Amino acid sequence: MQISARLRRTRGSEGVRKLVREATLTPADLVLPIFVSEVDEEAVEIGSMPGVYRWPIKRVPEIVESAEAVGVGAILLFGIPEEKNPEGQQASAKDGIIQQAIRTIRNNGFKGVVITDVCLCEYTDHGHCGLLDEDGTILNDASLSRLAETAVSHAEAGADIVAPSAMMDGQVASIRTALDATGFINIPILSYSVKYASAYYGPFREAADGSPTFGDRRSHQMDPANGREAEREHAADVTEGADLIMVKPGLAYLDVVRRSREAFPAMPLVAYNVSGEYSMVKAATANGWLDERAVVLETLLAFRRAGADLVITYHALDAARWLAEG
Ligand code: PBG
Ligand code: ZN
Repeated sequence: MQISARLRRTRGSEGVRKLVREATLTPADLVLPIFVSEVDEEAVEIGSMPGVYRWPIKRVPEIVESAEAVGVGAILLFGIPEEKNPEGQQASAKDGIIQQAIRTIRNNGFKGVVITDVCLCEYTDHGHCGLLDEDGTILNDASLSRLAETAVSHAEAGADIVAPSAMMDGQVASIRTALDATGFINIPILSYSVKYASAYYGPFREAADGSPTFGDRRSHQMDPANGREAEREHAADVTEGADLIMVKPGLAYLDVVRRSREAFPAMPLVAYNVSGEYSMVKAATANGWLDERAVVLETLLAFRRAGADLVITYHALDAARWLAEG
């Protein structure tokens, strides 16, 4: 028998495998989420996310320095405020937790890229991503100015990129207009354009204390059944001025990452390897059921192969160290 296509020919040695390798993964492709807390005095490990901590402001420089040392592309800040109220007032406060955190790390000389999550759910006492009417319905348009004020306050504090995650229609346009009006014409918006109503956010909500006190997020986050609709969400945000777009969560939605890459070949595309995905890997590896290093690097490479330029991941520090080891 004559076998002409011998695909094993290019797999015979690491040198040849490297020559024909398609996807790449480097520390600069990774974004590290960091939880900054006003309610903790010390770094507190998150029960469902071993190795991930809530950092008090005074210790944020340490984690930021670790990120810088291993060469991750950016950090993404989430805040846990002391005070919550119906309007999420602390989200946009000049001395809010995120605003203080950015100033602290800048004063410590951090030159890397700082991205901030822009949403109200960690700051509202009801835990929803926007303002509510008397019946507990989220008011889309009334929430836009709060999100815009929050984004501007982050830019004023020194954020490099703002990342709205509230899934309110029109939030990118509203933030763009507000940034431009306050002189921040060059601050990019990374839109959480395609964000599904996902059970994989469970550990994050423990970490950030941002669970809704009633109801859920299905009136604004996407239905996990919908793939085509992702293109409409991205398109709306690109039209409104988004500079980078995102798909979240990641692993159960790699088809959406691929279709987003194909539908928007020229847009920087980010995938979010979310908290529940992290927790699953940590649980399995803690039991010795999976090889952590191998599984994490394979997973992150899969995001790149699917078409993501950047991956937001709680594994960023470990992965960057492993990549440096070669
Ligand atoms: C806040 C926000 C959430 C996540 C990022 N920003 C939670 C949510 O929408 O309920 C989830 C991140 C993760 O699970 O790692 N809007
Ligand atoms: Zn939210």
